Amino acid sequence: MVTKCYNISMGQPFLYGAATSAHQTEGNNVHNDWWAWEMGRPIEMRSGLAADHYDRFREDFRLAKELGHNAHRFSLEWSRIEPKRGRWDKQALGHYRHVLEELKKLEITPFVTLHHFTNPRWFAERGGWLRSDAAELFTRYVQTAADYLGDLVPFWITLNEPVLWSSLAYWQRRWPPQQRSLIKFNRSVHHLAVAHNQAYQVLHRKHAQTQVGLARNLVAYQPASESWLDRVACQTVDWWFNRRFYNMTWPQHDFLGINYYFQTKIHWETKSFSIVQSDTQGERSDVGWTIAPDGLRQVLESVRRYKCPVYVTENGLADRHDKLRADFIRDHLRAVERAQESGVDVRGYFHWSLLDNYEWDLGVTPRFGLVAVDYKTMSRSIRPSAYVYKSIIEQARGG
Ligand code: BGC
Repeated sequence: MVTKCYNISMGQPFLYGAATSAHQTEGNNVHNDWWAWEMGRPIEMRSGLAADHYDRFREDFRLAKELGHNAHRFSLEWSRIEPKRGRWDKQALGHYRHVLEELKKLEITPFVTLHHFTNPRWFAERGGWLRSDAAELFTRYVQTAADYLGDLVPFWITLNEPVLWSSLAYWQRRWPPQQRSLIKFNRSVHHLAVAHNQAYQVLHRKHAQTQVGLARNLVAYQPASESWLDRVACQTVDWWFNRRFYNMTWPQHDFLGINYYFQTKIHWETKSFSIVQSDTQGERSDVGWTIAPDGLRQVLESVRRYKCPVYVTENGLADRHDKLRADFIRDHLRAVERAQESGVDVRGYFHWSLLDNYEWDLGVTPRFGLVAVDYKTMSRSIRPSAYVYKSIIEQARGG
């Protein structure tokens, strides 16, 4: 069966591409909170030069073009643009203009993320997303980005996975500032929602036609059994992590960006009076995530109720030896197709990631790239699965 995603509502070509983020690929992002945090970690767990994408973006975009991509998602690094409070770095803004001009030259549609997990140090050290004026500080940066770059950006993604970020930073203690407080978790989620809502207005005031959305990480939750306790537990988790943020930001969405990685079973444990998550059965990626393409169909169908265009803004796996990636892409694109057939207006798919990159607290060991990066020489080599993705794209275009 040939996978053939199509745009069912606008007659525009379906967008196929890959995604990256600034801190994970650019290298030398010395002004953000992650860089500061990494300094306290072993050298091999630091981002350092990352994939040196800041200097090699032209080469990387040529690879994307060669692989048939007609869209690309990347993020601006706030701490480069505003390294000190209120000081705007024209060189950094100029750099991102060059990035966007290059994509335009190659006829690759850009999706630009404004916040992908990292914060300027000056912001983080003074309370970051817990500050009552966090949203105002963020929207000033958004305004500057829109002023300098907005004419080249048809699609903006204000925030990447705000609920997951808050949970890892303020509840799970995994990411900086590694705290555990339900109050702080909630406060940061609230401020991020306000930030999205204000940024949405700012971006539209500047360019009425621009499309603005969010990238949300949606997990495909399933009750571990048919018992009503498991079903209620599952609905609660789904509401808390998947749906609540939409309620807080509705209707400020021109499209929905969905990042999908895995499916999880939810069980109510009466003895410990708690909700327990467990993995579903099946093949696993190098970081142990179970591969479950049908979960993508499930999360896409779960947002049908919003009656909004949808883009899969991330989907991928860590697979150093490229054994599973080709089937992974094929199966997940079939899931997209099934969601389209059931009436979800899916208009694009971005594989995570174009390049191997710095995988946050896991360092550079997990390899998510369609293109492998040799971190010693920084040379790039296209993995075979990237050509499978390319042939799927060509078939879908009727080529
Ligand atoms: C994040 C990426 C990350 C990927 C794989 C997503 O949740 O947006 O930054 O690399 O997951 O872990």
